[in-house]
Amino acid sequence: MSARSYIVDDREKKTFLLDREVLVSEDVLRQEMARIFARCWIYVGHASELKKPGDFRSRKVAGRPVIFCHNQGGTVHCLFNTCRHRGAIVCTERDGNRRRFQCIYHGWTYGNDGRLVGVPGDDAYAEGFDKALHGLRRPARFEEYRGFWFMCLDANVAPLVDYLAGAKDYIDLVIDQSPSGQMEIIAGVQEYDVAANWKLMVENSVDDYHLPSTHSTWLNFMANSGVKLEPPPKDSGQVLPTKGLAVELGNGHFTTDNINFRGRPVAKWIPLYGEPAKAEIDAIRSELVARLGPERANRVADSPTASGFIIASCPGLRGGY
Ligand code: FES
Repeated sequence: MSARSYIVDDREKKTFLLDREVLVSEDVLRQEMARIFARCWIYVGHASELKKPGDFRSRKVAGRPVIFCHNQGGTVHCLFNTCRHRGAIVCTERDGNRRRFQCIYHGWTYGNDGRLVGVPGDDAYAEGFDKALHGLRRPARFEEYRGFWFMCLDANVAPLVDYLAGAKDYIDLVIDQSPSGQMEIIAGVQEYDVAANWKLMVENSVDDYHLPSTHSTWLNFMANSGVKLEPPPKDSGQVLPTKGLAVELGNGHFTTDNINFRGRPVAKWIPLYGEPAKAEIDAIRSELVARLGPERANRVADSPTASGFIIASCPGLRGGY
């Protein structure tokens, strides 16, 4: 069944309907795994998660267990966390620092560059057994954009920078906040375990419609803090009073682009951060203007990236508020 038959998209009547089968069908999910997750670039991790040689993180990416690691020579790797002997998970820790990973089942040992370096009882193996042919496998492509590392299972995929399309501009907005051009993933993780189809989570990332009801407590808190928001223009298609809309970024990426109302974009919207933060926020803005010029500085400071944003991707790149 083609994707089209699940969707009614009548632009003239302004009607968009989705067959709910796409949210529950095992067959659709299987096709998505093969046609989206096995062919697109998928986010693996950020360079700042691997500060020192030997640092590693193990995680699942597109349903596959991987080790995202930094070898002794300073190269970043993405290795499938599946033993080449009988397929056991090799690294069972979520993070740490190791020169070697040893499979718990029969003790095969791999270097943090994926090479097979130790096989217990290897003198009993056939003469032609060659360790060099049995290192941990890795995805067909592994590339980074400004410290964000992605993998792809399809060797023939377009370059990462082309695939990111307009999402690159929003990654740049985040990184341009930093005087050093670097950013760091800080410790601590908030994990969601949601019994729902993956597309619901992606779509929810750009669904501002739910804010006034689901997040009314937060909006009331801001109102009580003195934040004053203009109502959206009538018939503008906007839900939030922040002059923003969901933006389509190409190749399945999208985001919401609202004016940042948490800082001090204009005098009447105020000090959600409180008066004590004024001097620091003013200094940050001055540094941005000096480094980037007033126009880019305003874009960087007043976009949602100033406080966090989400790029949703059908295949997988996600940030968080
Ligand atoms: Fe890993 Fe046997 S499955 S050593």
